Order: sequence, then C-alpha cells, then structure tokens
Amino acid sequence: MELKIPKHVAIIMDGNGRWAKEKGKIRLEGHRAGAANIEKILEESIKLGVKYLTVYAFSTENWKRPEKEVKGLMELFSAFLSSKKKTMKKQGIKLLVTGSKEGVSNSLLKKIEETEKYLENEETIVFNIAFNYGGRKEITDAINKILSDEKRETGKTVTEEEVARYMYRPDIPDPELVIRTSGEFRISNFLLWEIAYSEFYVTDVYWPDFDEEEYNKAILSFNRRDRRYGGLNAE
Ligand code: IPE
Ligand code: IPE
Ligand code: MG
Repeated sequence: MELKIPKHVAIIMDGNGRWAKEKGKIRLEGHRAGAANIEKILEESIKLGVKYLTVYAFSTENWKRPEKEVKGLMELFSAFLSSKKKTMKKQGIKLLVTGSKEGVSNSLLKKIEETEKYLENEETIVFNIAFNYGGRKEITDAINKILSDEKRETGKTVTEEEVARYMYRPDIPDPELVIRTSGEFRISNFLLWEIAYSEFYVTDVYWPDFDEEEYNKAILSFNRRDRRYGGLNAE
C-alpha cells in the first residue's frame, strides 16, 4: 500500500538539555546540537513530500528559564537565520516565524522580517518556526483581533471558521501529525487550536538524535492510525 504522507508535520523539539546532560555538556551545547539537527529533518521532509513543517523552537513559557539560557537561545536562533538563509533558498524553503513579538529584541525582529522576505517566494516547502509562541496567546490574540476589527459587525456571533481565520497562520492547514521527542506526553501550549484532530507521536529519542530513520518511524506510525474524526469508519 502506498505510504500516506502528512501535508503538515509539527514537531515539539524537546530534550536538548537532557541530551547535553547525558554527555556531560552544558545545556547550551544541547541547544546547539538541536539547532544543527533541523537541517536534516527539513531535507527529509522535502524528500518525503511534506508541504509544511512547523517546529516549536521557543515557547512563551521558556522566558522562565535562567537569563543566560534565554540569551543563548536568542543568539542561536539569530545565528541560525543568518547562516541558513542561502541554503534554504537553494532548497526552495519558504520560511515563516510564528509567535508573539513581545519581549523579542528589535534587532532579532528585524532579522526575522528580512529572512522571511528573502525566502518569501520559495515554494518547495513551508518551514514554519514557532518562536515565542504560545497556543493560549494565539487564541487570546485572535479574540482581541475579532473584537477590534472595525470591519466586523459588532456583537455578531463568532463561528469556528471565523476564529480559524484570525489565528496567526490561517493559510496553513492543520497538522495531521504532531511529533514530540524525548518522551514527554504533553502539548506544552503548542498549537492548541490547530491540533484538534492531529495524530500524536511521542518518541524517547532526544531531539538532537532524532534523525531520518526516527522521522520515518513516526510517518509509519501515522500510517497505521485509524482517523475517525468522531465518526465511524466504513467496515
Ligand atoms: C527543547 O529542549 C528546547 C527548548 C525548549 C528551547 P529542552 O531545553 O526543553 O530540553 P530538556 O527538556 O531540558 O531536556
Ligand atoms: C516545549 O518544551 C517547548 C519547546 C520545545 C520549544 P519545554 O521543555 O519547554 O516543555 P515542558 O516545560 O517540558 O512542558
Ligand atoms: Mg524540555
């Protein structure tokens, strides 16, 4: 039987800290290895024919971490954008960075905007980085956008379709498959609205060790799922 490839895969890249600890390294080394791993998974996504890849890089809750780690993560992200933009262009990767601007430095915001612009016409795959992203924040922002939209009739009942249109990325279809590395069975405020009917796959492998083979295991697992969406399948 032919393999079903999800159009949109979303990954909670977890376990960088534990990966580093097991190797006797500092946490930031784990984040560095994690950032380096992205390229491999992006390439495999293109090979497989995945059209949208979303990765969770920094949550709205990750600001609670020690200042030094937060600073390191910001610098790594900025360095990732600068060092990968040319290869991303060659590979036809359209980059989107999705999340809140609150707390992010102006220089980083500027770099994000420039990199998105540089890659805006690429069409092989959409690579969406959830950065300073929180699912509750996204829903709250959507509600506020609805309330303050002057083109909307005041007091009109809100529909599900309308809520979806006010989310950060209304043009990206919901992910069919959500992968979380490093064994944690929780969603940690990732894509709350969009994952209503996503299939969930958890592996014990830490993110820096999550390679093509592990990725393909997740795709195979997805292929064995019986997706019913609340209905019944034909016998
Ligand atoms: C994921 O790795 C990366 C971020 C959350 C930024 P962690 O840093 O959460 O790694 P663990 O969970 O401590 O192992
Ligand atoms: C989720 O991982 C966020 C990212 C991978 C960016 P965390 O490590 O922050 O999640 P918790 O704290 O274990 O729930
Ligand atoms: Mg973690």
